[in-house]
Amino acid sequence: MSLTIDRLEEEFQAKIDAGQNIEPKDWMPEKYRKTHIRQISQHAHSEIVGMLPEGNWITRAPSLRRKVALLAKVQDEAGHGLYLYSATETLGISRDELFEQLHSGKAKYSSIFNYPTLSWADIGAIGWLVDGAAIINQVMLTRTSYGPYARAMVRICKEESFHQRQGYEIMLTLCRGTQAQKDMAQDSLNRWWWPSLMMFGPRDAESTHTEQSMKWKIKRKTNDELRQQFIDITVPQAEFLGLKVPDEDLKWNEERGHYDFGEINWDEFWQVVKGNGPCNKERLDARRSAYENGAWVREAAMAYAEKQEQKRLAEVG
Ligand code: 3HC
Repeated sequence: MSLTIDRLEEEFQAKIDAGQNIEPKDWMPEKYRKTHIRQISQHAHSEIVGMLPEGNWITRAPSLRRKVALLAKVQDEAGHGLYLYSATETLGISRDELFEQLHSGKAKYSSIFNYPTLSWADIGAIGWLVDGAAIINQVMLTRTSYGPYARAMVRICKEESFHQRQGYEIMLTLCRGTQAQKDMAQDSLNRWWWPSLMMFGPRDAESTHTEQSMKWKIKRKTNDELRQQFIDITVPQAEFLGLKVPDEDLKWNEERGHYDFGEINWDEFWQVVKGNGPCNKERLDARRSAYENGAWVREAAMAYAEKQEQKRLAEVG
C-alpha cells in the first residue's frame, strides 16, 4: 500500500511540476486538499466579512454616483465569496461546515477587515490599497495549481480592477478638493497603509505554509515578494496624489530596483489575527446574526427546492 501512495505522490508532484492543474476528481495528497480548504475558505470568508466595513458607508456616500459604485463593489464581493465557497466545496466540505468554522472563530479571514472605516476617504483607501493588494495576490493565484481556485480568480480579478480604480478615483477627487478633503485622504492613507502591507501575511521566514505552497504551486510568489511588488507599484500612485506614505524609512533603492521600507508592526498583526483587533468582535457578531436572521430564507429555499423535486419525480412517475 505505502508503495502505491509513494507512487501516487510522485505522479502528483510530476503533474504540478509540469504546470498541470489539479482537478477535484484527481488523486491528491490529503495535506494538499486540507491546505486548500483552509486557504480558499479563508479567502471566501474575507470577501464576505470585507463587505461590512464598506457597507457601513453605502447610505452615507456623498453622491448617487458614489453610492451606485459602492453598491456594485460590495455586491461583487458577495459574488467573490460565493465563487470561492463553491470552489472549496469541490474539496468535499459543506457550506454549513465552512460557516460554522467562521462563526466559531476557528477559521480566519483577512486581518485588514478588522479596522474601522472612519471617513468617506476610507472607502477610497480600501479600493485603492486593499483591493490593490488583493489584485497583486489574486493575479498570482490565477496560476495556482488547483483548477477551480485558479478559474475563480480569473473572474474575480476582472472585477477587482474596477474596485481598485473607483477607490483611486475617490482619493484623486479628494486630493484635488479642499484642504480639508486632502487632509481626510492623508489621514486615511496613514491608517490603512500598514494594515494593507499585513494582508500579504507574515515574513517568509515566519510563514507556516509558504515553502510547501511554493512546491505545490499554490503560491507562485512568496508573501515578501508580493508585498514588495505592491509597495513598488503603490508608492508612485501616492506621490501622484500628493500624499505622503506614513513610513520614514521608505526610500527607492536603485541597486535593488525596489523601495526599501520600514519594519511592519508584527505584534499588531498577530494581535489582529488572533482576534484582538479594533473590530474583530463586531465583524463576527455581524456575521453570526446575519446567518441566524437569514435562516428563514435558507429554509424557504430548501422547502421550495424539495417541492420542485417532488413535482419532477411525480411527473416522471
Ligand atoms: N490575515 C489573517 N490571517 C493571516 C493573514 C492575514 N492578513 N496572513 C496570514 N495569515 C495566517 C494564515 O492563514 C496562516 O494561518 P492558518 O494556518 O491558521 O491558516 C498563518 O497566518 C501563517 O501565514 P502563512 O503565510 O503561512 O499562510 P498562507 O500561506 O496561507 O499565506 C495568505 C497567507 C497570503 C493570505 C494566503 O492565505 C492567500 O494568498 N490567501 C488568498 C488570498 C486572500 O485570502 N486574501 C485575503 C484578502 S481577500 C480581499 O482582500 C478581497 C478583496 O475583494 C477586497
